[in-house]
Amino acid sequence: MHLAIIGGTGLSQIEGIEDVRHQMVSTPFGEPSGPVTIGRLQGCDVVFLPRHGYNHRIPPHQINYRANIWALRELNVSRILAVAAVGGIHPDMGPGSLVVPDQLIDYTWGRPSTYYEGDLESVTHVDFTYPYDESLRQAFLAAGKALHIPMADGGTYGATQGPRLETAAEIRRLERDGCDVVGMTGMPEAVLAREAEIEYASLNVVANWAAGVHDGDIVSMAEIEKTLSNSMRGVRKVLKQILSGEDCMLCRVAAG
Ligand code: HPA
Repeated sequence: MHLAIIGGTGLSQIEGIEDVRHQMVSTPFGEPSGPVTIGRLQGCDVVFLPRHGYNHRIPPHQINYRANIWALRELNVSRILAVAAVGGIHPDMGPGSLVVPDQLIDYTWGRPSTYYEGDLESVTHVDFTYPYDESLRQAFLAAGKALHIPMADGGTYGATQGPRLETAAEIRRLERDGCDVVGMTGMPEAVLAREAEIEYASLNVVANWAAGVHDGDIVSMAEIEKTLSNSMRGVRKVLKQILSGEDCMLCRVAAG
């Protein structure tokens, strides 16, 4: 069983993957965001898929989340480490922060978000009380600790539809709802992984203050890109740390 990394904005490639091959997996739901990269990172088997495509061309609402998760399942992936850029709402979660959320609220609409539809033998409701896998969350946090890279342990991710950014009033509403960060890709990715019985956790990289959090500021794409390119250096280290050699945290988790 394999580990997959799903990269988000700012993480369309991972350097250092060895014995690389690329594989296009066709699924009953159409094409995934691109061919998956299969190889070894720090001695561990890994599958990498950039959710926006290798050229960052697919916007959040047009990502074929069902095909992406299905393709990983076909490749025997049992765990997913997702990386996703977000806007910060909580005062402690400003640009450059890393957050390992433990909850989410889904505000997306119109996205195919389940495998359980069509001609079903029975109606299925997956449990989603805790949307993120706790052992994978802990793997992120332990890697941050080992590298002295601060990470917030827990927080609520609000998944918005995009591709536009939110209004200030929408962010105030998300804040009242209890959201700490806001992004556009966390759902339905997380629930599809749950339906596919793949463990899933996400590392959120705060790229900007969410709309209106700092009065008068507007969200600039240039700022987002600059912050992400700095933060992704840390994120790459974190991913490598999780997978590193005999100490591979996930192999240890697997071994119990
Ligand atoms: N809102 C939604 N998604 C995002 C943001 C934001 O402010 N920043 C990065 N992804």
